[in-house]
Amino acid sequence: MDAALPIGVFDSGVGGLTVLRALRASLPHESFVYLGDTARLPYGSKSPGTVARYALQAARLLADRGIKLLVVACNTATAMALPELTVALPALGIAGVIGVIEPGAEAACLASHSGRIAVLGTEGTIRGGAYTRAIFARRPDAEVVGRACPLFVALAEEGWVEGPIPVAVAREYLGTLAAHVDTLVLGCTHFPLLEAAIAAVVGDTVRIVDSAATTAAAVARWLAANGLAAGLGASTTTMLATDGAERFARVGSRFLGVGLEPASIEIVDL
Ligand code: DGL
Repeated sequence: MDAALPIGVFDSGVGGLTVLRALRASLPHESFVYLGDTARLPYGSKSPGTVARYALQAARLLADRGIKLLVVACNTATAMALPELTVALPALGIAGVIGVIEPGAEAACLASHSGRIAVLGTEGTIRGGAYTRAIFARRPDAEVVGRACPLFVALAEEGWVEGPIPVAVAREYLGTLAAHVDTLVLGCTHFPLLEAAIAAVVGDTVRIVDSAATTAAAVARWLAANGLAAGLGASTTTMLATDGAERFARVGSRFLGVGLEPASIEIVDL
């Protein structure tokens, strides 16, 4: 395996750009190929079989481009497809796969004093219970409350992340949560954009964490352990999407924190 190969990053759409942002910040010498499956978003309301099939197709496309490591930036795809992706790795010629749920659980366990933790995610992520299992594996005494917050995805995509509407939606989903937990993990790529509205509802006694920084740290550990960290040199980021270059660039710029041009997004077919 060539250490100069890029890292593949996959998400159902633009949300995973929050993870790519953290990866680029902490691994400035690495190159990335990001694939957002915008044609089939959202994954959060789909069945595990369908999401696993989509994730395998995405992994195959990224493998064909030549990647050393696959980062599944999508919480739903991690929850529903990580075992299938792990089994498929040797056939795809990718050296490893890292999802966002183990790092998210790690962040939550590090932050929580009481062990009472809330996980916010899509319907599919919460229903599958992968976060709960990952938290229990680290902290068997934990009490985990899962909340599906699907409207947060639409609000983040629309850019409605401040003001009365997101706060009202957050109150509906999370109103009584602060009394029961000391830590809340944003178990969905889109939710970091709504952190201020969520914090306004749960108050400052609840710590809010997400998986972006801990995923970047897990990737750095994996690269070092496998001797596959890129040498010093110019890094590149290639952006692929399955639909809508203009929308991907417009909405994605907010998630990445850097302006994207539609012309720099390559549309691909899975
Ligand atoms: N990327 C998804 C996740 O992190 C959210 C959007 C979707 O439902 O596809 O769960």
